[in-house]
Amino acid sequence: MMGHKIIRTFIILLTISLAFSSCYYDVEEELYPQLGCETEDMSYQNDIIPILETNCYQCHDAANNFGNVTLDNHSSLLIFVNNGRLLGSLKHESGFSPMPQNAQMLISCNIQKIESWINAGAPNN
Ligand code: HEC
Repeated sequence: MMGHKIIRTFIILLTISLAFSSCYYDVEEELYPQLGCETEDMSYQNDIIPILETNCYQCHDAANNFGNVTLDNHSSLLIFVNNGRLLGSLKHESGFSPMPQNAQMLISCNIQKIESWINAGAPNN
């Protein structure tokens, strides 16, 4: 009888500690979203263009211009920065076409880099 209770208490404690450890993990992810991802002082030339070139230019350079969206020069890109469509599409938010089309979402580090550059005013640097 006594042994039963101890085992039950043990299982309950184990469950609680497991629940806490997974919570702790979530919090840690939120506190350090950029762990191993450099997002400071992003450069349009060196950081942003390579991401778009690899993932977007095949449909959104001036020649292809799919959906009337050209992203291969700073001033055209700014249109989609400023109307929110660039980030909405990259983050697969509702109300925007998920991009890149028919492919996996960009890795979160690349989305963070683009977002950081936008928050800095999307400079042509
Ligand atoms: C395989 C072709 C293809 C690729 C690759 C692609 N797109 Fe698109 N994109 C389209 C087409 C076609 C449209 C217009 C139809 C639509 O909105 O779904 C579009 C529309 C958009 C729009 C407007 C969306 C809206 O809701 O108004 C944005 C912004 C955009 N793309 C950004 C990107 C970005 C950024 C990338 C790279 C990460 C990318 N696209 C990669 C084909 C592509």
